[in-house]
Amino acid sequence: MFKATFGFVSFTLLAVRAGVAAPSSVVSQLSNRVCPAPYPSSTPYPPYPSSSYPSSSYPSSSYPSSSYPVSSYPSSTAYGYSSRSLVPRQSGGNASLSFTGADWIWRDEFDSSGRAPVGVRGFRKVFNPPEGKIPSTLEIASAVDDIATLFVNGEEIGTNYHWPTANAYCVPLYPGSNVIAFNATNLDLVGPLNHAALLVTAVVTYTDGTTSRIVSDLSWRVSASLPSGWEQPGFDDSSWEAVISEGTYPTQDPDNYGTVSIAGVNPLSYAQAHWIWTSENPKTLGTRALRRTLDLPPGNTNASGQVLIVADDEYSLYVNGHFVGTGMAFPTVQRFNISNIQGPRVVVAVYAVNTNPTQAGVLAAMQITSFDPYGCVANCTSETSILTDVFWKVSTNVTSGFEQPNFDDSTWSPITQDGTGTSRSPTAPGNGISPSGTPLPGAPAGN
Ligand SMILES: *[C@@H]1O[C@H](CO)[C@@H](O)[C@H](O)[C@H]1NC(C)=O
Ligand SMILES: *[C@@H]1O[C@H](CO)[C@@H](O)[C@H](O)[C@H]1NC(C)=O
Ligand SMILES: *[C@@H]1O[C@H](CO)[C@@H](O)[C@H](O)[C@H]1NC(C)=O
Ligand SMILES: *[C@@H]1O[C@H](CO)[C@@H](O)[C@H](O)[C@H]1NC(C)=O
Ligand SMILES: *[C@@H]1O[C@H](CO)[C@@H](O)[C@H](O)[C@H]1NC(C)=O
Ligand SMILES: *[C@@H]1O[C@H](CO)[C@@H](O)[C@H](O)[C@H]1NC(C)=O
Repeated sequence: MFKATFGFVSFTLLAVRAGVAAPSSVVSQLSNRVCPAPYPSSTPYPPYPSSSYPSSSYPSSSYPSSSYPVSSYPSSTAYGYSSRSLVPRQSGGNASLSFTGADWIWRDEFDSSGRAPVGVRGFRKVFNPPEGKIPSTLEIASAVDDIATLFVNGEEIGTNYHWPTANAYCVPLYPGSNVIAFNATNLDLVGPLNHAALLVTAVVTYTDGTTSRIVSDLSWRVSASLPSGWEQPGFDDSSWEAVISEGTYPTQDPDNYGTVSIAGVNPLSYAQAHWIWTSENPKTLGTRALRRTLDLPPGNTNASGQVLIVADDEYSLYVNGHFVGTGMAFPTVQRFNISNIQGPRVVVAVYAVNTNPTQAGVLAAMQITSFDPYGCVANCTSETSILTDVFWKVSTNVTSGFEQPNFDDSTWSPITQDGTGTSRSPTAPGNGISPSGTPLPGAPAGN
């Protein structure tokens, strides 16, 4: 398990893509894209041709696999934009994401004390729609001990770490067979217990507006070796092992993981965020700069967000270089609503001042709602969560422009975590305030 005290965990574990905003020529091409009419339901699409997934549920007379050789199967990009329907994603009701009934899964490799080896494991789930149904979108959330990257049909969607908060991604699907894959890593280095587990829930919306559920269960496959292309739809996983269940959420919890909060489904909360600061002991008075970088799902360039934040003792908050607000009222948490966040990379920066020698720290929880403005599926928004934790960086050298997205923080120090959001008795925030106030004296103006 990834203990809170692991302040030194390598940041290179985070999948930070080098790419930033698409060049304007690409954007203009994308904005000229014509979204197609819904895929005609009278023409069911065949399942993805793979020897490991026999098309027994699809009469071979109507879908001879020989007419759909792998080479002619359209690429993710071409296919994704030519066959999506305009069916809105369904939300609410019994189609809401919930982990209830999903299994905590892993490879069958625990020792007699319940320890799993450190390392990366590949997980795959192939989803074939019921006959006559055409998938439109997938809403998917996962929790992992300790870190996992999600791929849908071979495309990298996002990385989740820890189990208290799950990001909820909306991804367009192929009309036929679809593949969900994770590379999940058990990071533990020390301690008597080293659990490892992956928990997944998803809702598929079909072009006719109906939904069905996919959860982590014994139908998933796992492998300790990840050959090239393991996450791709055409990969043959027939030799992969079946996963084992370590227990069913929420009644059988393999390691007291507790409740997993789903971004966008459960209210934003700082309870699982940590107070973060430098490693100084004792904490000296003065100003520190903190940053956290996050990449939104591919294509999701338009976003808005909500932040709960408090500093011990004062802060000014910036998102992508824009000033959001100032707080000087420790321990009262403030809530900000932020519109017009330009993805796909989001940089949260905090100018924090310790004015009282006893303690110092920043506590924050943020939720970012994003979508692809050129996507061909309506209402396909993803919810990504940021908590103050070891994935932040800190510097005592508060240099000009530190709040800007392109600032190089590679020489900054790893963060040090103190207690979670329930310590130091922060006072719950009100209903929310728009970006307001002025930067603290000495803090950047932002752009
Ligand atoms: C998981 O996949 C992501 C995206 O390709 C990659 O950045 C990361 O290094 C992989 N994790 C491991 C442990 O291989
Ligand atoms: C998207 O969601 C909004 C709010 O729930 C709803 O008013 C709108 O009709 C939806 N759009 C489509 C195309 O379904
Ligand atoms: C969702 O609700 C509908 C209508 O009440 C019901 O027919 C269906 O069985 C429900 N599905 C699930 C998975 O509970
Ligand atoms: C997406 O963001 C761009 C840049 O801020 C804006 O011009 C555009 O109107 C947004 N699109 C939608 C659909 O909100
Ligand atoms: C502070 O950071 C700036 C820019 O990164 C650098 O030029 C300067 O040498 C640093 N100062 C100290 C004292 O580390
Ligand atoms: C901020 O956003 C939340 C969630 O959407 C909403 O409930 C609240 O009313 C908003 N507050 C303001 C001041 O806009």
